[in-house]
Amino acid sequence: YKIINAKVSESCPSNIALIKYWGKYENQIPANPSISYTLSQCKTNTEIEFFAEKKFSVQTFLAGKEEVKFGEKIEKYFKNIEQYLPWILKGKYIIKTENTFPHSSGIASSASGFGAIAKCLMDFDDFFSGKSDDDSKLKKASFLARLGSGSACRSLYDGLVVWGETKEVADSSDLFAVPYSTKEIHSIFKNFNDWVLLIHEGEKSVSSTVGHGLMNTNPYAERRFREAHENFSLLKDILKSGDMKSFIQLVEHEALTLHAMMMMSEPAFILMKTGTLAVINKIWEFRKETNLPLFFTLDAGANVHLLFPSNKDEDKIKSFIIKELVQHTQNNDFVKDVMRF
Ligand code: PMV
Repeated sequence: YKIINAKVSESCPSNIALIKYWGKYENQIPANPSISYTLSQCKTNTEIEFFAEKKFSVQTFLAGKEEVKFGEKIEKYFKNIEQYLPWILKGKYIIKTENTFPHSSGIASSASGFGAIAKCLMDFDDFFSGKSDDDSKLKKASFLARLGSGSACRSLYDGLVVWGETKEVADSSDLFAVPYSTKEIHSIFKNFNDWVLLIHEGEKSVSSTVGHGLMNTNPYAERRFREAHENFSLLKDILKSGDMKSFIQLVEHEALTLHAMMMMSEPAFILMKTGTLAVINKIWEFRKETNLPLFFTLDAGANVHLLFPSNKDEDKIKSFIIKELVQHTQNNDFVKDVMRF
């Protein structure tokens, strides 16, 4: 390889899992397969300037403000991936990054953040080691993003994306994510709204690293990992047939299971807030009364992702959300996104 000063910039969206990844082994190997929707609007934009120098260093800025802790995290990450990018410690990096969505919103900024950094690294690799073809470049970016934050590897592709080996998806791997074949997806699932209600914008009381770790001693963990595999088989059929009712049931069950696992850890964590529960109950009442397909999923936090298809009923759902659900947020705040493919 031949290194030179260079500057690259990339953008990467966040994602929200339908079947959740929670629990991992050494080297970011997931304990079970997961599948997510890549968002469209919620992105991280990252610019990296590289100066070929003897001394390795990383300086990071988030929305114009220097973030020393984040810089240290990236330094550690770069050292960890040197075996895959032999030039990576040969200089100084200035990383400028910004999110198009609020910080601590429960939208995974680590997924979009590491996705964008991994893409930038592959751009440098093109300069330094010679251009690779687009497919293998994306695959390697997904592989590298995984080593930063597991769920980040799914953000490299649009639409529905699978990470973790499952017999249901032929080319699936624990090492990188793969796009789920659009031929296997009923048209009913191809255009979805995702409105994130910002119930609580404070820091999470458990980091995902600690959370994954607690699965090692959780007495329900093995059953949960098996269930994720079982849910994959169910979801595959649901995606093909367009069975919205079963889809809703499965997606909500996965979200509640993620939180149930945290509640059954030692020590236990409850990341839902009063507002989270109020919103869930109201969604269930609304579905009972109207039969309209409004449902939720959760990440490792209090905020609620409201999912509903883009179709003739969406206006009724939107006005219900604004009239009845938004009041449970911290600052009458929410983020709108869509998932298309
Ligand atoms: O990528 P991590 O290590 O931050 O894990 C996040 C896992 C969840 O977001 C809670 C679920 C998922 O599959 O994205």
